[in-house]
Amino acid sequence: MMCLLALSFASAGQTAPQIVIETKRTALVLTVNNGKKLLQSYLGKKQERSSYELMKGGREVYLTAGMDNQFEPAIRMVHADGNPSLDLRYVTHNTVDSAGMQHSTIVLKDPVYPVEVKLHYRSYYNEDVLKCWSEIVHQEKKPVMLTQYASALLHFNATEYWLTQFHGDWAREMNVVEEKLNNGIKSIESKLGTRTNFYQTQVFFLSLNDRSTETTGEVIAGTLAWTGNFKFAFEVDQRNGLRVISGMNPFASEYFLKQGEVFTTPEFIYTYSSEGKGFASRNIHRWARNFAVLDGNQPRMTLLNNWEATHTDFTEKRLVELFDEAKKLGVDLFLLDDGWFGNKYPRNDDKNGLGDWQEDKSKLPSGIGYLVKEAVNREIKFGIWLEPEMVNPKSELYNLHPEWILKLPNREENYGRNQLVLDLINPVVQDFVFRTVDDLMMKNPGIAFIKWDCNRSMTNAFSPFLKDKQTHLYIDYTKALYKIMERIRTKYPHLPIMLCAGGGGRTDYGALKYFTEFWPSDNTDALERIYIQWGYSYFFPANTISAHVTSMGKQQSLKFRTDVAMMGKMGYDIRVNNFTADELLFSSEAVKTYKRISPVIWLGDLYRLISPYDENRMLLMYTNQNKDKAILFNYHLHTRRKDFFRPVQLQGLVPEKKYRVREINLMPGVKSVMPDHDKVYTGEYLMTTGLNLTPGRVNPLSSNIMEIIAE
Ligand code: GLA
Repeated sequence: MMCLLALSFASAGQTAPQIVIETKRTALVLTVNNGKKLLQSYLGKKQERSSYELMKGGREVYLTAGMDNQFEPAIRMVHADGNPSLDLRYVTHNTVDSAGMQHSTIVLKDPVYPVEVKLHYRSYYNEDVLKCWSEIVHQEKKPVMLTQYASALLHFNATEYWLTQFHGDWAREMNVVEEKLNNGIKSIESKLGTRTNFYQTQVFFLSLNDRSTETTGEVIAGTLAWTGNFKFAFEVDQRNGLRVISGMNPFASEYFLKQGEVFTTPEFIYTYSSEGKGFASRNIHRWARNFAVLDGNQPRMTLLNNWEATHTDFTEKRLVELFDEAKKLGVDLFLLDDGWFGNKYPRNDDKNGLGDWQEDKSKLPSGIGYLVKEAVNREIKFGIWLEPEMVNPKSELYNLHPEWILKLPNREENYGRNQLVLDLINPVVQDFVFRTVDDLMMKNPGIAFIKWDCNRSMTNAFSPFLKDKQTHLYIDYTKALYKIMERIRTKYPHLPIMLCAGGGGRTDYGALKYFTEFWPSDNTDALERIYIQWGYSYFFPANTISAHVTSMGKQQSLKFRTDVAMMGKMGYDIRVNNFTADELLFSSEAVKTYKRISPVIWLGDLYRLISPYDENRMLLMYTNQNKDKAILFNYHLHTRRKDFFRPVQLQGLVPEKKYRVREINLMPGVKSVMPDHDKVYTGEYLMTTGLNLTPGRVNPLSSNIMEIIAE
């Protein structure tokens, strides 16, 4: 069983290899030392190749536990014979280049135990994004136990470290908090199992040496492509060195790995910017659209959703009326939300019917097929809500298959929103979930959109299927979810699906590979959404962030609510028949305007100009790739007489170009009072002198959209 590797390059008469992973502006340099340890020698701004050759030292890339490392390890393994140590030495590596991408694989082995770890690095040249993950495999006769299994460990050596995290709760997602890291370990993590980023989203900024701004400072933006429990650990040591360990959360998740079985960690994705957070966000957005989000560069549909307008209280007739309202608005799609299913236990509230995915015959006597037909007759598309991972105890599914449900033996059932989580790890349940989608689609091929919800996290979780391997539950659940999504995507590769988890409880790039957009929050009050959408904008492109005009926040004008939805992927969830004639005219024009300007919003570069955390207003703009079209959003919050607003310098334009600035999306009959409306300026002027976007006294909760077009 034991295998011995030559322990030094010098003894074998070879020179130690160096692996350089580069993008347009960034380099990660890994060096193998004489003892065959793989070291991180450099991470930062790209330099001349010859400079890297001078970099010999560094700190171990994939630190193990049990031997000389006394800090948080990337990996900890207990061998079949009980030995709790691992020693990883470089064996070989290879690099493959393909269009704009480089993929390096580095093989490490234990010199004594038959354990191999492959470290994968993929770099996206133009997007300046790096991605890494690992594969762990062994040939011991009996299973080994993994108790830690990071996707990445990064080392930093700066004078100060500033961490920005994004925390929240239901209806108040993505609050931005920045703090200075001190000695010891700070961790950002989730133990929720499902709806995993309910309290913490798996994204962070790490600013080096000083706080970074939107346009200045060295900063790393990192995220984990994993829909399950995650953990980022930031450990500042006694010499002010920082280790950042990112991966699945090993909490209660010891993994027993069989001989030859490959344990693959999720991808850790990051970008390095020496020009602040704005640049880092634009890198992540571009990468997301090009490589990470399903159909990331394709157009999205505007829609009318019925959740806030009707909740579960609707009839077939009322829905068809809503199709007419969607038609009046001019949106592409009608989305039927929760409440359409269940017969023995009709889904008239959140206590009943979850799991019974048959049309409620009393509400929808003519079935979903009839609704699809009626929508199509009106030239709009039809979409539908599902929550296929969950079950209410009051359901036929629960009565039929109690063994399909995650729940502890010998304990009372514990509910979240009156429901339980299905045991997706069981292949029979995977089949049930797949069939829920497939049957619906086969019966109603006209369905053009799905909203996939997940309204609770795990408590009292126990998988009847896993039996004595309960510590595999959190990891295997997420892998099972991906398996189901793979099956769905094989059969329905481009069906738009919205990712939702009781608001923004699931927003990560592990899932977004299968989804086209996500629901950021059940809080659709436009003032609250300004902060929430601002938070998401750091890591997610606008075409993934669903934003609906609703009647929440009634004190706000329809114009303000519409302008807030327009900065994301706009939709409606409102009683259109309650609109005044002016409001209907405004809204139908707004939909047309949005269709015209959305390519800039969805595919353009985002420049955050003024944060709502800094001033009593928020400003951001999107510029298309040619820099000849830009859309600027200007929101005044609870402005007061004391507020003084300086002119705003724009970004992302060409200094020499001339641009016409026009205010758009005004209420019918209203003329712009913007002093710069319909004027022409050079890009240089707009980016240096800037625009006065607050003429005189402005009303609280008011907004403007400016279209900026090169002449
Ligand atoms: C969750 C979602 C909402 C809505 C309801 C339906 O709360 O976030 O948008 O779909 O479920 O029950």
